Amino acid sequence: MIEDIQQVLFTEEEINIKIREMAKKISYDYEGKELLVVGVLKGSVIFTAELVKRISIPCGMDFMAVSSYGDSSETTGVVRILKDLDHSVEGKDILIVEDIIDSGVTLNYLLNYLKARKARSIEIVSLLSKPERRKVDIDVKYLGFEVPDEFLVGYGLDYAEKYRNLPFIGILKREVYAK
Ligand code: IMP
Ligand code: MG
Repeated sequence: MIEDIQQVLFTEEEINIKIREMAKKISYDYEGKELLVVGVLKGSVIFTAELVKRISIPCGMDFMAVSSYGDSSETTGVVRILKDLDHSVEGKDILIVEDIIDSGVTLNYLLNYLKARKARSIEIVSLLSKPERRKVDIDVKYLGFEVPDEFLVGYGLDYAEKYRNLPFIGILKREVYAK
């Protein structure tokens, strides 16, 4: 796997430091609220787990699965819900957890979908963002790192379901996906 990585952007240690900062802010902001953390499968699983471990107030966890990519490295623009939430969100303060915001199409769709469900509030936390690629404007309350327009893998991010288990975030060599 390592031989397919062009450059390591963030080590596990750097990511952990960032996640600790984000969790501290979230714990402060959501004190006394009904925090429900909603991870977007599968890319955000590792980030979601590492984030909730460091949140010091009670919080629920749920997951949604959406698909917009297939096995390609470019979004198709069509979002499908593959797995919905297990519980009602009425009165809850939802925090959607994403691995990376690229075009913003996925999150825009999810936001509109959840807004129709009477949650008390909805905010977004994302580990990474590629601002150059944005097609839809997305308001991200908590952001880890801004990244360049490269295809990234590791720490939950995949290319064709591979590399998710790399403990760091790296740039995938172009020759791997431009075959
Ligand atoms: P968006 O709808 O274009 O914002 O796409 C968001 C989703 O695409 C993310 O949640 C990722 O699953 C995936 N994605 C976007 N960029 C990358 C990348 O560089 N590597 C791996 N997955 C990515
Ligand atoms: Mg994702």
